[in-house]
This record gives sequence, structure tokens and C-alpha cells, in this order.
Amino acid sequence: MDRRERLIARARQGYRLAYGVEPTRFYAAPGRVNLIGEHVDYNDGFVLPCAIDRETIVAAGPPAPQSKEKLFEAVALDMGDMASARDKFDLLVPICPGENNWQNHVRGVVQSLGRYGYRVRPMRIAIAGDVPIGAGLSSSAAFGVAVALACSDFSGLDLTPEILAKVAQLAENDFVGCACGIMDQMAAAASVADHALLLDCRSLEHMAVPIHKSLAITVIDTGLRRSLTESAFNQRRAECEAVAQHFGVTALRDIDGGKLLLAQTELDPTLFRRARHVVTEMERVEPIGVALAKGQTAVLAQVMREAHLSLSEDFDVSLPPIDRLAQLVAEALGDAGGVRLTGAGFGGCLVAVAAHEAGRAIDEAIGRYNGEADLPARAEVFRPTSGAAPILLE
Ligand code: GLA
Repeated sequence: MDRRERLIARARQGYRLAYGVEPTRFYAAPGRVNLIGEHVDYNDGFVLPCAIDRETIVAAGPPAPQSKEKLFEAVALDMGDMASARDKFDLLVPICPGENNWQNHVRGVVQSLGRYGYRVRPMRIAIAGDVPIGAGLSSSAAFGVAVALACSDFSGLDLTPEILAKVAQLAENDFVGCACGIMDQMAAAASVADHALLLDCRSLEHMAVPIHKSLAITVIDTGLRRSLTESAFNQRRAECEAVAQHFGVTALRDIDGGKLLLAQTELDPTLFRRARHVVTEMERVEPIGVALAKGQTAVLAQVMREAHLSLSEDFDVSLPPIDRLAQLVAEALGDAGGVRLTGAGFGGCLVAVAAHEAGRAIDEAIGRYNGEADLPARAEVFRPTSGAAPILLE
């Protein structure tokens, strides 16, 4: 059995144990790693993530046969035992928050579909995933988009990837309490295998950018964890909004480096640095996209180094051990590829985009880091996969 077959088997078994019957359909949505454009989505700019071969699977089926109520039932197989990790809510009454995050997430998706004018039919689902939680690989977006897709398909709504992503984002913003942007949900919904997704976070227009076959995407998990909702994420977002407001624009996408520099003395120094990260990061997206498609590893090395520095010094979302690891890996790679912090930060993962042959250099750098660090880091090579889809089983 491969990874996905094991996950499907787990979802199927959980469904059977929870409801006593077989599920009738399966849906999947992947996690993602962002290659460039960090903390840019909620500033309406361009980002370049790719989906990875780790995912959330939803097993789904009709409601209990004799039930007169219009119930939505869910069991989350990674969130506790079968007795505690269950939820049930009435689709005919306004949906109120559940007892914990995952319940809120499921309820939030159903509620958000309602807010977009879509009615979800009663159904039962079991959710299982293998996207590492809290690592900055968007287990949360995979969860939300997979549930949204299951609702959409099961209720015959046939929603586009853009709507699935917006529904999942709204659920996180309003029901889970995270002010995340749209990047993760769009990556989970609209990615194309072996490509990265160039996404305009304002219009949601997107284009698949090929990843040159000489390149490998390695995610290096630092093991350092901090939950996104509790982190300074919302604060960073507010700081960016404050600068946009200063300039009288909708979002930082609407200003460039020159304009920002001219206003430096008018801005609080911290706010200036936050905005400088966003503005320079937006300029890094295009060269990385081209380098990715053409396999230009020296460009990746240089631009990703600048991106990491900017996240660490201007946006202040790195930690000393992460900077150290990034430095060791960058030194080991030389011109063979780039490395930088990926995701929201405050812990989580580094991403390296480098020639396949550089895998050993990455491993050696991690070995050196682990010799001096409290928490060991570990690397894994991911395959860029496609976005959310029903799983067709024969
Ligand atoms: C988290 C959020 C995204 C994005 C990134 C930072 O993953 O969910 O919307 O803001 O952080 O780029």
C-alpha cells in the first residue's frame, strides 16, 4: 500500500467504525509549500506556492437512513478517539461554534457555503490527513478545502476551485479565528502536478508555472512549533494594513519600493520594515518563477537568501535556530539552489529548491545543525501535486 492508499484505508475504516456502513465517496485536498511571496497574499500581491504530496482525505456518505433530522455528522480521525472527536449539527438551524477548532472548521465550511448561497445536504464524513500539523505546510487549508469539496460534490454544487478556496478561507477567518489570506486554500484547490501556482491574490487569476525537472523541492522541518492563530500573524497583518492606510491604498500591493522609501521618515520604523519586506518580496516572485521554470539554481540561491533575510530582519517571523539552519543549508548549497523560511514563520519549515544532486549537501548541513541544536531538524523531498479532487476508486 502506498501513502495515499493507507490514508484512504484509514478514512474508510474510521467512517465504518463511526457510522456502521461503508462510505460512498472520497475526496482529497493537499497541503502546500510556498516557494516565494511570503506574507504577500493578505497584501493582495502575487505568490508562488506548490501543492505537496501530503493531504487530507474525506470519506463521505449519505445521512443515517431513518433519520428525520437534517444532520451533518463528522468524525476527525486525527483529533482524538472515536468518542471525543465527533460532531453533529442540525442544518436547519443557524450554525453555532462547536467545542474545538476542528469542529469549528467543519461547521465554518458549511456555514460559509450558506453565506455564499449554497445549501449543503445532510451527510456524514470521516476526515483523515497526513499533512504535518503546525509545520507551516497548511494542514488547515487542506482540511478546509477537502471538507468544502466533499460538501460541494455531495450536494451537487459543482463549485470552482476559486469558490472552494474562498469558502475555506472564510471558515478559517470567521469560525476558527485566523486572519489567513487566500494563498493556502488556492494552492490546495487549484494546483497542477509538477507545477507551482502563480496566483494573483487580488483577482485570484492563476497560472501553473512548470518546475524544471532538474529541481527538487525539499522541506526541512525545524520541529519548532507555534500555532498560527495564537501567533503574531494577526498582528503582522494589522501592521501591513496600517501602512496601506497611511498611503491611502487598499493594500501594500498598490505601493512600490520607491514610494515606500520616500515616506520612510513619516512611518514608525517597525511599520517601515514590515512594509519593506512585503514590497521587496513582491519583486522577488517573478525572478523565482522564471528560475523555477528554467532551472536557474544560482538565481534561486541569491533571491531566496534575500527573501529569508527579509523575513528574518524586516518581518521578524524567524527564530535564531531557523536562521542558523538556513545559513548552514545556504552555505552547503552554494549556487546549486536556494533555501528560505516558508509559511507564516514563528517556527515551522524551511524550503529548499535545489538541483536533485544537492540532496546530499542539504543532508550534511542538517547533520551539522543537529549536532548543535536542541531540537533535530529533518528533511523530506516532496512531489508537487495537483489540487483538490474527488478520488476515483475502481
Ligand atoms: C499562512 C497564512 C497564509 C499566508 C502565509 C504567509 O500560511 O495562512 O494566508 O499569509 O501564512 O505567507
